[in-house]
Order: sequence, then C-alpha cells, then structure tokens
Amino acid sequence: MSSSSDTAAQRTTPADITARVEASFADCPDPRLREIMQALVRHLHGFATEVGLTEDEWRQAIATLTATGHITDERRQEFILWSDALGLSMLVDALANPRPPGATESTVLGPFYLPGAPEHGFGDNIAVEPAGLPTWVHGRVLDLEGEPIAGAELDVWQNGDDQLYAVQKPEGPEDHLRGRFTTRDDGSYAFLAVRPVPYSIPDDGPVGHMLEATGRHPWRPAHIHIIVRAPGHATVTTHVFDAESEYLDSDAVFAVKPSLLREVRLRAADDPERPEGVEGEWASLACDIVLVAADEAGEPVDPGRTA
Ligand code: BEZ
Ligand code: FE
Repeated sequence: MSSSSDTAAQRTTPADITARVEASFADCPDPRLREIMQALVRHLHGFATEVGLTEDEWRQAIATLTATGHITDERRQEFILWSDALGLSMLVDALANPRPPGATESTVLGPFYLPGAPEHGFGDNIAVEPAGLPTWVHGRVLDLEGEPIAGAELDVWQNGDDQLYAVQKPEGPEDHLRGRFTTRDDGSYAFLAVRPVPYSIPDDGPVGHMLEATGRHPWRPAHIHIIVRAPGHATVTTHVFDAESEYLDSDAVFAVKPSLLREVRLRAADDPERPEGVEGEWASLACDIVLVAADEAGEPVDPGRTA
C-alpha cells in the first residue's frame, strides 16, 4: 500500500476490507480457531453487505449488545436468551445431539434448571404446594431395541399455574415442581406433577424489545422438562409438550419437535386409576423415553445459567 496514485482499480472496496480481515487470521496457530474466525468474518461482513447496514443501525446494534451486557448477571443470562430467541440454541443442540429415528429427541435446557433436585420414589408428588391440575406422568425408559433400562435417572422440572418455576420464586419452596426419579427393573417411572401452562420468556430486556419491535410474542407452549441419564447411554435433555397447548406453532425459542408432543388425558374424580392423594379431577400423561447407547453420557451444557 505504498503507491499514491488513485485509479479506480486501486480504490478500496467493501470486498477488499472483508478479504483483508479474513487474511489477518491466516497464521492463527490453532486451525479450528482459524476456521471459526475466518468464517465469522465472512458471514458477519456478508450480512452487513447484504443488508447494506447503515451507521445508525450499527450504532443501535452496539447499544443493544451493551444493554445485553448490563442486564446480564449470575441469575439473568440475556446473551443465551438471544441465542434461544434466534434459534441458535436449538441449532447448536441439533448439531451436537443427532438422534436416530425412534430415539427421544433433545431440546433446549432453558434458564430454569437447577442441579441437585431432591430424589423421589416411584409415584411421588413433586408439587410442594397446590399448583394446578394434578397430572400423573408415567412411562418407561427404553433402549432402541425396546429393552427396559433399569436405574435410569429422570431429572424433572416444570412450572405451575402461576406460570413460574421454583427458581423464579426465591421466597417459595426451593424444591417445588422439581425432582429426580429412578426407573424400576422394568424401566418404568411415574410421578405426580401438575398440568404445565404456557409462559413468557423474560421479556423486560433487549430480547423482549426485539420481539416487540418485530411483531413476535414471548410465549412458550406448556411443557415439562426432563433430563434422562443412564449408564452406557447418551444423556438426553428434553421436554414433553402438552399436545393441546397454545403456542406449539410459534414457540419463542423454537424448541418444539413434533415427536415430543403428548396427550394430556383428562380424568374424572371417580376414575378407578386415580393416584393416591389426589382429590377431584386429574389428568394423566404417558411418555416413554428412548435412549441411544453411548460410551460417554454427556451432561447438559449451560454454564452461564446453571453454574
Ligand atoms: C424454558 O423452557 O424454561 C426456557 C427455555 C428457553 C428460554 C426461556 C425459558
Ligand atoms: Fe420451560
């Protein structure tokens, strides 16, 4: 870049800038980091070029990122919420956890998981206080050949009819609507839950502003979260969705997979199968879980929110 002449051929174009920045990573000693940084530059510059990003829009983007940093702390992770609301969390999950047909599919972990839920016995109630329609959740954990997996752990959490998870209510009982269950010899599990309800993702920050500005809503369809772990099998982090819920077609975080929908069967008070301790109307939800064999089980990865 020493010549002082200024012909059209020597003008610096947007493409020259992109090429120069991409080339600046050519000597990166870590090949994976080089690949990531060069692709990032190509796609970031490609995006700005495609939309003709203006200086004002660039300033707004910086302000949004700054606000995202300011609202984020050890309880609120707005960067992951961006990832969720832009479908990146689901994409990364799908890339990391491909499952063959017949195996239970994974979906997002979400911000409301807390490790160390209390261990329960078969059929126990996870509602520490009344929280909605009592719902008997039951099924078996199986392998791909249909053989039962005994001793599998189900780590479950859900919201109640106030739309909130226990971690969102520091004043409430810590172990409300969460618990860990172990499958019996025939692979069976059961617990008494409540019918989950749709709820809004946190929408009082930059992600909420984006949803509002773009005409999207912040709602998620009703679901129960389940992580299933078993020796010799890949851990699956998933949800079971109420097949009748609102928002199944417009989940704010794109986490619905058709294979995860289950019927919530309404039952009368005098139904002979009524679980012990339940009075009045109730519901049941059948959900088998199918795991794939794996040497390494793997654990949910979400350090920003579950540390
Ligand atoms: C959840 O299902 O708990 C959740 C997932 C992503 C963002 C917000 C909530
Ligand atoms: Fe949830």
